[in-house]
Parts: sequence; C-alpha cells; structure tokens
Amino acid sequence: MDRFDFHTKIMIGSAGLREMLKGFQRVFIVTDRFMKESGRTGYLTQYITAPGAEYRIFSDVTPDPDIDTVTAGVSMILDFKPDAVIALGGGSPIDAAKAIVYFAARQYDLRDCPFIAIPTTSGTGSEVSRFAVITDKAKGVKYPLIDDALLPDYAVLDAELTRSVPEKVTADTGMDVLTHAIESYVCTEANSFTQALSEKAVKLVDQYLLAAYRNPDDLEARQGMHNASCLAGAAFSNAGLGICHSMAHALGAQAHIAHGKANAILLPYVMSYNAGCESTLTKTAGRYAELAALIGMGATSTRQSALNLIHMARRMNVRMKIPQSIKDAGVSRETFEKILGPMTEAALADRCTATNPERCTAEDIEAIYRQAFVKSSRAFRE
Ligand SMILES: [Fe+2]
Repeated sequence: MDRFDFHTKIMIGSAGLREMLKGFQRVFIVTDRFMKESGRTGYLTQYITAPGAEYRIFSDVTPDPDIDTVTAGVSMILDFKPDAVIALGGGSPIDAAKAIVYFAARQYDLRDCPFIAIPTTSGTGSEVSRFAVITDKAKGVKYPLIDDALLPDYAVLDAELTRSVPEKVTADTGMDVLTHAIESYVCTEANSFTQALSEKAVKLVDQYLLAAYRNPDDLEARQGMHNASCLAGAAFSNAGLGICHSMAHALGAQAHIAHGKANAILLPYVMSYNAGCESTLTKTAGRYAELAALIGMGATSTRQSALNLIHMARRMNVRMKIPQSIKDAGVSRETFEKILGPMTEAALADRCTATNPERCTAEDIEAIYRQAFVKSSRAFRE
C-alpha cells in the first residue's frame, strides 16, 4: 500500500518553541529524573512566563517505560488538566509521553492541548513516529502501540540539547539512524516519498555522524544528525523497517545490548543477506547500489556498489569503536548458543520482519546471527 502522511510540524532550533511557551497556562512536562535533577528542564520552564502560568513535571520515566509509569503519568495529567504536554528527553520519555497522552485522551478531552516532543538524542525518530513501546516488567513483555493518535503535533529539533550526549551514545544512536534510513529505503512498503526522506538521512549520516562523534561541540554536525534522525523516523514510520531491527530487538532483549549498538553490529550482515552477496544478487542489491551512488561510493557493478555501502557501515562501526561482533559485545559462546533459538523465534515473529525486502526463514535468521557472532568475513567477500 503506497501511503505517506506527515502529521507533525517540525521546528528547528528553539525560537518557535519559546514563542509558543509564552502562550500556555498549564504545561505538563514528561521527562526522566536526570533531566530534572540536572536542571535541563529549565530549557522549557524559563519560558513559561504567561501571567498565572503553571507547570508540572512528571520525571519518573525510566529506560523502557513500563505500564506502572504510564498509569502514574495518566493520573497526574488528568489531575493537572494541562493546555500543553511536552516530552523532553531520549526515546523513553517521548514513548512514555505518547502512551500517557494516548490513554489520558480516552478520559479527558485533549484535542486542544498540543503535544510537543523535544528529543535530546539523535536516534529513535520517536518525535515523528506513530509507535511507542511499553514494557510489562512483571511479565517481561514489550507491547508495541501503533496508532496515528500517538503522533506528536510538534517536534522541536534543537541541536543544543544534544551537545552533552556522551560519545558512545552518539555512536550507537547514530548507527540506529543509519539503520532506519537504509531499512526504510529498501523495505516492501517504501515509496518515492519515504525514499526521499531515507536518501537525505543517509546523506546526512555520511556527512555528519563521525564529526558529531569526534567533536561533541560541532553544532552543525549535531544539527545534521538531529535532522537525519527525524527524517529517517518519518520514513520508517510510514514505510516500515526490516529484519535488522527484528534481530536487534531480540538481541537487545536477550543479551542486554543497547538498541543502536545491536543494529550497528547486525546491519552489515543483514545487508549482505538482503543483497544476496553470497548467492544470487537480489533487487535489494540494486537499491543499496543507489544509496552508494548517492554518497559517492558507486562502482561499475551493482555488486561492488552494494558492497561499498556495506563497507561504509562497517567503517563507521570501526571508527566509532563499536564492537564488530556479538562476541566482541561481551556475549560468551555458551550464552549465545542458549539464546540463539529464542532470539531467532522472536526475530521471525517481530513485526519488522513483514516489511523486510527479502523473504527469510528461521534458518536464514539463525545463519545471520551466527555470522555476526564471530565476525564472519564470508558475507563481505569482494
Ligand atoms: Fe531503531
């Protein structure tokens, strides 16, 4: 189904937000404890200056927000009756805020209450996606929410907020952006509109990720990555992703590897599989070749062009000291063999598998995990 819509209004920099904040009377802020205790919520509260204006900060969001957190947030929002809701933070506070607004709106009319997402890391694209993931910690289950009603009304992209992001997080989240861009470009639901966003995101990552990693104060690079994250988020929110994300979700859950890092490790192996590098070249190889040409890495053959894009992803990992294999990420052989079955099963059932450009079986996924465990070079043979 070809579709594309873009609900969220994007504001780049903080000027537009400052103007908006002056007009609100009751601002409900969803964030995490670190943002509150470090005083970073002052980014918002200093501009809530209308006569009689009030704000309330809900800062109980933890990584992988759970049902209890959402329930507590819903009851606070219903009590406070805001005229604006703002999510400030990484993917977790934004996901939690989306769920809080979604469930609160069933009990209280929030139609005239703008929902504003302000990401402080450049990775998830959650500020423009119709997805949120909520965890039931007691059952150890993650529930994906998918609904247009989860889309924020505004997203504020201010690179200043990402200046203090540690280099490891810049690396992991940056590779998550690259994975979103590449997977959304080749997936089964991609169309010309989503691909335009994916293409620009790939170009921006190629141009700015290493610079943002090496120099946290390079605001041009930081803004480039912030924009790339949002563009790729809008692309995958419309088109979907692929098995790199399916496999990263399962690897993250079983081996406790950060989402971006899990994607970074798996991406080259998944690309090699999708391109048919070890067997017969696929249509997807042609798509990778298009992206390679876009960033000046095209070659005379489709195969070499696709391989050049795969090597670009591998080089990024090396330069940002991201582990090259699941083993290097600290997973022992014994643990790997124990979790391989459940990971494969979970990855196959993951919703991202349905939009992967190449059909795959459990055996295929298991083989990719095995290659990624030992850093097999077979997948990249020239
Ligand atoms: Fe991701």
